[in-house]
Formats: sequence, C-alpha cells, structure tokens
Amino acid sequence: MSDLQDALDHRRAVEFAPDVFWVGALDPTLRTFDIILKTSNGTTYNSYLVRGSEGVAIVDTVKQEFSDEFFARLESVASYDEIKVIVLNHLEPDHSGALPELMRRAPNARLYISTRATSMLKALLKPKDEPLDYTTVTTDDVVSLGDRTLRFLHTPFLHWPDTQCTYLEGEAVLFSGDVFGCHYCDSRLFNDTVGDFRFSFDYYYAHIMRPFKDWVLDALALIEPLKLKIIAPTHGPILRDRPRRYVAHYRELSQSSLAGQIGNNDKSLAVFYMSSYGNTARMAEAVFEGADEIPGVRVSLYDLEGGETEPFVDLIEEADALAFGSPTINGDAVKPVWDLLSSLAVVSLKGKMGAAFGSYGWSGEAVPMIEDRMRGLKMRVPLKGLRVKLIPTDEELLECRDFGRWLASELVGKRTQKAVIDLADLG
Ligand code: FEO
Repeated sequence: MSDLQDALDHRRAVEFAPDVFWVGALDPTLRTFDIILKTSNGTTYNSYLVRGSEGVAIVDTVKQEFSDEFFARLESVASYDEIKVIVLNHLEPDHSGALPELMRRAPNARLYISTRATSMLKALLKPKDEPLDYTTVTTDDVVSLGDRTLRFLHTPFLHWPDTQCTYLEGEAVLFSGDVFGCHYCDSRLFNDTVGDFRFSFDYYYAHIMRPFKDWVLDALALIEPLKLKIIAPTHGPILRDRPRRYVAHYRELSQSSLAGQIGNNDKSLAVFYMSSYGNTARMAEAVFEGADEIPGVRVSLYDLEGGETEPFVDLIEEADALAFGSPTINGDAVKPVWDLLSSLAVVSLKGKMGAAFGSYGWSGEAVPMIEDRMRGLKMRVPLKGLRVKLIPTDEELLECRDFGRWLASELVGKRTQKAVIDLADLG
C-alpha cells in the first residue's frame, strides 16, 4: 500500500510541500452538487494546514458531514492550541461547515475572511455559534506564522461575493478556493497522478465561473504575476504539475474571442426566432434587414428550428444585443425559445440590449413574457416588443424593418426618435 493510500485510509494528513498538508475529505459517491451540478466522480472538500515557527494556519474547512474526517487529519499533525490562524477563502457551507466546531476547539485562533464575507458569516452561523471574532482582509494584507507569511488576494465573485485567495509566500502555494477547482474525487489527489479530469475542470468552469468572466480576469491579473509552484483549490486535484497551465486555460476561457474576430469596432446583434406558419419568420427577416442597414453593426439571423442550444449560448454571450422572435402558442412562447433563454443563466447578460417580437393569433403573451425574462437576466429592454396578429402586412413588415433599424442605431449610439407602436394595439 502506498504511503498516500495509507494516510487516506487512516485519516491522516498528507504533506505536499514542507509543512503544508492536505487535511480535507473525500466524497466519492456524490453525484449532484448544489442541485444543478453533475459529477461522475464525486468531489473533494480540500482543507489545508500550514505550520510556521509561531503557529499553525488552517485554510478552509469542509462540509459539516465530513467534519470527523477533517478533524482526524488535522489532529494527526497539529494540536488545536497551536492553531493561530483560520482562513476562510469562501463561506459556502461545503467549506465553512466545520468552522464553528473548529473555532470552539481552537481557542487561540483568529479567523480571517474577506470584507464581503462578514454578512454571510453572520447568516451562516447559528445563534449558538456567535459571536465569532474575526479580521477582514483584502489584497496584500498579510498574516504571519513566524517564519512564514500568508498573503491575501481580493478575488470577489468567484463565485460568491465573498471569495478570496490566499498565497503562501516562499513555498509559492496558492490556496485558490473554488477557483481552479472541479468536482473530481480521486484518492491519488494530485493532478499528475489522478485520472483525466479535464472534462470536469471545464464543466466546473462553465457552470461556476463562466457567469463571472470579468471577475475571473480581475483575479488573473493578481494571480499571474505570482510565482506559482502549487495551486491548491477547494475541490478536486491539487495542481502541482505545471500549475500555470491552469491559469492560462482560465484566461483563454474567460476572454472574448469575438472581439478579435468580428473586426473593427463593430457591434453585434443576434436575431433568434422560431416560427410555426412562417409569420414570425417573415418578421425576423424584416427586423434583420432593417438592422443590417445600419453601418457598424454585424447582424446575424438564426432559426432556432435548425440549431442546438449550446453553440448559441456562446454567440449570445459575446453579442451586444439580442432579439428573440416567437409566436404565441397556448398563451406562451414556444419551447425552443424558452430552452435558449433558460440556458442563459450560465452567462452574464447584464447591460446587453434585448428585444422581442412575434406573430400571434389570440392573445400574444409570448412577447411580453420574453421581455420579462430578459429583464430578469438584467438585460436592457429599451423598446417595447413588436407583435403582429397572424400574417404581417406589408405595412407591418415595414414596421419590423424600422424596429430592426432602431435596435441597430441604438447599439451604435445613433438612436432615432421612434414612436412606440404595438401593432397589436392597432388591430
Ligand atoms: Fe465549493 Fe462555492 O463552494
């Protein structure tokens, strides 16, 4: 039996740099995390222990149900009265679950959290756990363990407002929280010895970090200049083999590729539609044609009947404006439109312009429902949606062109005065 397997079997800590230990827990049978995330390999709750000449630090804890395993590993290398520092990089319960008990057991410890974590700490703790004494920290604040120093990096919204990273100077170990993590449990623990976890790493990024790309880029600006020997995230393998590859991969995933490909300073407008009798399709084409008249806007038209949702999500993420066309069937927008709109929770749409249009027979709810969804996604919906009863007339198609022209003009800052007319109101 290898030393590593022996340590895992007997709930001992695993040393992976001088006096730096993994004291986390394995959860190999988990298949669904936080209701929405699937995992074929379970997950790990990684917690770390750093020993310095003047005390011990614990960085992050574990989900409450795994406390026994965590405390057993901790006790295998340190006593509670040696613990001077507890760092919580992120307060989600899978990392803060064992915190109250750890604070009780370690009376000499002080808790370090980000400033934004304060309100969450209070919300997470039960009344019997309070009051906890803590210090809030931000970028370049440090805490000393005597011969070793932990430095903090303010990296919020990865993926909660409270998140931060902690850097062990000298050993060049970055305790990165959920950043660079994944739900992949493998008792071999390290990226150069576990199975192929690339799919899990990308899946985790896509579902957890992707909506916060701008914040990822801000964090990378702090992380990239660091000397990095090891990245120690809170889930999945410890990245000790060429850790910088994962930093570069995050940058690649977080940067817009469209900006470099579309050329000039063109803005982009994507028009998506679904049509049952061709009426909404005719409206979409007219909206497209009108928008295409405006210089400086790259307009694209997509029939959802002919496409899968996933590639459209990428297009939408990088577009400046979106228009959705749907007929109203049974008082609702049609399923392909909802499928696309519901899949947009993984991207940030804040501030993008949105518009809706569609043909209807009786009541025409689809357009306002789509508008509500867009507003719910924090998009701007500056122009009232366009509805046409059944077959659009030539005059109504001209109105659709005008609608497209107005949207594109708004994008390039040349908005014309437009009377807001709902054609449905005229009928
Ligand atoms: Fe792993 Fe966001 O908690």
